[in-house]
Amino acid sequence: ETPWLVVPAAGQGRRMGADRPKQYLPLAGAPVLARTLQRLHLAFPRARLCLCLDPEDGRFDPAWVPFADWRRVPGGAERVDSVVNALMAIAGDAADEDPVLVHDVARPCVTVDDLRRLHAAVVEDPVGALLAAPVADTMKRDDGAGRVRGTEPRAGLWHAQTPQGFPYGLLRRALAAAAEHGVAVTDEASAVEALGMAPRLIGARRDNLKITHPEDLALAELILAAQAAASSH
Ligand code: CTP
Ligand code: MG
Repeated sequence: ETPWLVVPAAGQGRRMGADRPKQYLPLAGAPVLARTLQRLHLAFPRARLCLCLDPEDGRFDPAWVPFADWRRVPGGAERVDSVVNALMAIAGDAADEDPVLVHDVARPCVTVDDLRRLHAAVVEDPVGALLAAPVADTMKRDDGAGRVRGTEPRAGLWHAQTPQGFPYGLLRRALAAAAEHGVAVTDEASAVEALGMAPRLIGARRDNLKITHPEDLALAELILAAQAAASSH
């Protein structure tokens, strides 16, 4: 059972501070967007893709999309609005129980293995799942004035990654409820959590980097090279 893929790619990349949105910056010779779609395609060659793009965006090239079945939808003001637009666009075609994986275009280093493990969990679990990695650093809470108030216990803390996957009907319901109740939604799981459900955490590789700041691009290039070297042994 192949998933629906929703890829929000309508951001401006402000923290990156480049001359263009970060999804169009070259990464090992191809735009970040093309690299991310290649990884998704390796894992799910027959998936149906919904790509959220800024309607004003003149840089997108459909030649970067390796999927046979895909559509373009307009991005919204925030990431969550882009995702909601995608879910509305497939309303006539997606069944409530269909698995939908949402993956940031800014995470090109996600591995096929993690993608498949996440998908398997989503197919199995009616409240969905997300890739995540345990927090490794010691966590400090500040006092609001640049000093330490205390140390947070890090046991049980995870970094949420993407993809995050849910049955289509549940995800639509969760995002609609979050919008109605003014719940801040930084990832899909938080909307589902707000309904009182507990999505499954799927332990993921720590190199599923989200390209956010300028130094991340060089790091992503190193990660891709290391992954290629490891898989050729
Ligand atoms: N995104 C989107 N629509 C928006 C905002 C973000 O589709 N209105 C997408 C981005 O393209 C990215 C993902 O959501 O793939 C995660 O967002 P983020 O890393 O914050 O990217 P940007 O919003 O582009 O970066 P910044 O916040 O630094 O401007
Ligand atoms: Mg953003």
